Amino acid sequence: MTPTLSSRQRLLRSFTGEPLDRPAVWLMRQAGRYLSGYRAVRAQHGFWDVCKTPALSTQVALEPMALFPLDAAIVFSDILVVPDALGLSVSFSSGGGDGPRVGRPLRARADLDAWQLDDVQARLAFVPRAAAHLRAALPADRGLLGFAGAPFTLLCYTVDGGSSDDFVHTRTLLARDPGLAEAALSTLAAVAADLLCAQFDAGCDVVQLFDTWGGLLTRDDYARFALPALRAITDRVRAHTKGQGKTILFVRGGHHLLPLLGEAGVDGLSLDWRTPWREARTLHPRLTLQGNIDPVALFAGADHVRARVRALLRDMRADDDGRRCIVNLGHGILPGTPEDAVAALVDEVVRGAG
Ligand code: CP3
Repeated sequence: MTPTLSSRQRLLRSFTGEPLDRPAVWLMRQAGRYLSGYRAVRAQHGFWDVCKTPALSTQVALEPMALFPLDAAIVFSDILVVPDALGLSVSFSSGGGDGPRVGRPLRARADLDAWQLDDVQARLAFVPRAAAHLRAALPADRGLLGFAGAPFTLLCYTVDGGSSDDFVHTRTLLARDPGLAEAALSTLAAVAADLLCAQFDAGCDVVQLFDTWGGLLTRDDYARFALPALRAITDRVRAHTKGQGKTILFVRGGHHLLPLLGEAGVDGLSLDWRTPWREARTLHPRLTLQGNIDPVALFAGADHVRARVRALLRDMRADDDGRRCIVNLGHGILPGTPEDAVAALVDEVVRGAG
């Protein structure tokens, strides 16, 4: 039996391969619209104001930590801070639902030339500031995650100008002007890498790269466009943190990309709910794996959620006694998710795994 670990030890140990008393648990988008406290804050403040006011970003990041015994908090920010800081004026409709809007979509070389690279990290300084403020308010024995958008997903929003089912403009650009796409990806990677390094400097234990739209690409296109930009980020983070800063990559819809993802240079993979756990483990025996409960399972009642968690914990224990495993969802929590289902999920990990 492994002695009881603190939450932060558990999170960090899931990257060293040391034995765990149980897997750590945190949930993608754990702070957000499904929580009444978050909705109350948003009734009073704009989304960017919440991100840029440390007292507010810390308050909303701590709300799920107070409600559920989660092992780690995540900095309250957004992946679209990067295009916004490049001068592309990202906005969110107040009611939600329509998704983000990017003021100046990238369609031609002149649009890329207009990106404001001078002082871009100064315009992003509110993110590490939020991380440091949250770190100081969070109990020392809990973990802290930072994050950034993966370059290809950032390219999707900057080229199509908002959310889309198929990101036609982005994928057309890859085919018609691959040089422009690569130049934009390399700039997005450089900015995202510096942002992640700043979050480590501010006290984050681990960072996650969100490649929400990476699954739209074929293997060949992922290898050609997405992976080199990811590799630039992980190389930079590894050099900056002297190998201490751990990185997780989440690719939504990335089952077909699984054989390639070792080349991203990350320490962990966050699996989407359609990716079979054991298949990922067979392909990546040395990486930390995270996931992968369907967020929709949380709408099906506490008994269903508990059964799903037990099945996942069995899969995790089947190899290497559950080392290098983190429980999470296979995508972000959906608005409208019942809080008692989230409580059941976390409780089943905390109590059920002993
Ligand atoms: O606890 C947390 O995880 C909060 C931090 C966080 C947010 N966004 C806050 C947020 C994180 C990690 C993200 C990541 C993010 N943002 C992703 C990747 C994860 C995923 O779900 O695939 C993506 C694609 C985005 C881009 C984005 N930001 C979208 C599509 C939206 C929803 C827009 C809408 O109107 O529905 C946002 C806004 C956003 N980011 C909200 C939150 C809590 C909701 C904004 C609101 O209050 O209305």
